[in-house]
Amino acid sequence: MTHAPNRAVITADPVVPHPVQVRELQVETHDTFTLTLDPPDTDQGLPFIPGQFTMLYVFGSGEVPISISGNPDSPLQLVHTIRAVGSVTRAMQEMQTGSMLGVRGPFGTGWPVEEALGRDVVIIAGGIGLAPLRPLVYHLLNRRADYGHVSILYGARSPGDILYPDELQSWGGRFDMDVSVIIDHAATDWYGDVGVVTSLLDKVRCDAGNTIAMACGPEIMMRFAARGLNDIGIPDEQIHVSMERNMQCAAGMCGHCQYGPTFVCKDGPVFRLDRIKPFFATREI
Ligand SMILES: Cc1cc2nc3c(=O)[nH]c(=O)nc-3n(C[C@H](O)[C@H](O)[C@H](O)COP(=O)(O)OP(=O)(O)OC[C@H]3O[C@@H](n4cnc5c(N)ncnc54)[C@H](O)[C@@H]3O)c2cc1C
Ligand code: FES
Repeated sequence: MTHAPNRAVITADPVVPHPVQVRELQVETHDTFTLTLDPPDTDQGLPFIPGQFTMLYVFGSGEVPISISGNPDSPLQLVHTIRAVGSVTRAMQEMQTGSMLGVRGPFGTGWPVEEALGRDVVIIAGGIGLAPLRPLVYHLLNRRADYGHVSILYGARSPGDILYPDELQSWGGRFDMDVSVIIDHAATDWYGDVGVVTSLLDKVRCDAGNTIAMACGPEIMMRFAARGLNDIGIPDEQIHVSMERNMQCAAGMCGHCQYGPTFVCKDGPVFRLDRIKPFFATREI
């Protein structure tokens, strides 16, 4: 079977959750944590493409889609970063080493890492949106010479909401990558930029005609990001966004995640902007 480079490769039966054990729960911020799970296949791990997601099932509570946030070159560690917002994600927050979860997947399309080869890359993330982009950053770092200039723009609500602050600092300390972080409102313990993440686009150094941009965050942020990227000369065909919709089957069968004529679970979550533009511009669909 052949796959387009950023298509899903489903390694497990798509509808049967595999029981996996929690290896570690790491607190990231007041409402966000990272779960490291033992993958279903302990020899192969769970290979995935940056940007793909799994369905995580808390027995007796429910199942939710969560992006894989770990290193795609280390599939023996199945890593997810989760914001506790409701019943299932709060139940996950209570888990401990040895707790059991069900996992299905990986599902969906990934970031266009092949298309970006040899080109400049602009990454724009808002809040928890950095989690699905972290595997992409690892991928680029693991093959740094294969890509052009890399810029990461990250916006968080407050200094305390900044995800992966140590990694952002270490990426920013490199000489081959630009990292800019901005928070929404001024805070006494913050000496950096304040405002919306799109205001950081002024700092980006890239050859617009030869750049691939990838964005993940609240939809309103991604709409402004797309407009800002267009303003600096990056056309819709070179912009990719990751969309979120409520899901059930994650395998293109139930229709819960319908987004215009597409299903986010199988045609996305990563879409090239020009392919979804008519409904991307619509607030609720
Ligand atoms: C492809 C994909 C990847 C995702 N990756 C991550 C991730 O890496 N980390 C993470 O923390 N979350 C991620 N999410 C969102 C996550 O699935 C939801 O937060 C989760 O389903 C909430 O479930 P719950 O039972 O805890 O909350 P619920 O009780 O179901 O909902 C709590 C609140 O969150 C809202 N909500 C629920 N589901 C969604 C959704 N899919 N999109 C937007 N709002 C929603 C509800 O309207 C409600 O306001 C992803 C979603 C998708 C579709
Ligand atoms: S979640 Fe069932 S079709 Fe996408």
